Amino acid sequence: MSVHFRDITMANLRAVYELEVGPGQDGLVAPVGYSIAEAHLSDEVFHYRAIYDGETPVGFLMWDVQPPGNQFPGWGLCRLLIDHRHQARGYGRAALDLLCAEIQSSTDRPRCLWTSYEPREDGPREFYRRYGFVPTGDVIDGEEVARLAQWPDGSPTDDPFA
Ligand SMILES: CC(C)(COP(=O)(O)OP(=O)(O)OC[C@H]1O[C@@H](n2cnc3c(N)ncnc32)[C@H](O)[C@@H]1OP(=O)(O)O)[C@@H](O)C(=O)NCCC(=O)NCCS
Repeated sequence: MSVHFRDITMANLRAVYELEVGPGQDGLVAPVGYSIAEAHLSDEVFHYRAIYDGETPVGFLMWDVQPPGNQFPGWGLCRLLIDHRHQARGYGRAALDLLCAEIQSSTDRPRCLWTSYEPREDGPREFYRRYGFVPTGDVIDGEEVARLAQWPDGSPTDDPFA
């Protein structure tokens, strides 16, 4: 496995746009095309990348960084989508590892990572729990909010409210 992030350009737009969730997973995450449009049209600053294994696009993620004083200060994972043909092979976990490494080497603070997800039985709660996300008890737009307690190397994430 050679998982890495790649910028989305005209050269790979169609291949990345066509990444999609599987039957029954509608509503868990917005389609890639919608997320890219949102990132460009929103007043907020979003960052997005394609997730590749070698030369194969397998997924998409999008995040933002909120300053201290915000309700959820720090890095917020807004979208994570592994194409249904590539799920359950470790790509989701590998993408989180890459994002964590990017955060840990960044000067953007606080260095902590939030996410939120649909509290559905067939949703990604268990995926995030296994990775180390802990529900905060907050609910935003009907989604459970969770925050990563420690980085994959075991070091603690910043206290976002310190
Ligand atoms: C959720 C998602 C990102 C996970 O990516 P993935 O590549 O399929 O997951 P991985 O193979 O990296 O799984 C990592 C671990 O989580 C577990 N896991 C993954 N999805 C799970 C699920 N839906 N329920 C329970 N466990 C799950 C795996 O069994 C694995 O466990 P391990 O600790 O034994 O290794 C992907 O399945 C997906 O895009 N789903 C549809 C959209 C979605 O829900 N996105 C999240 C929006 S917030």
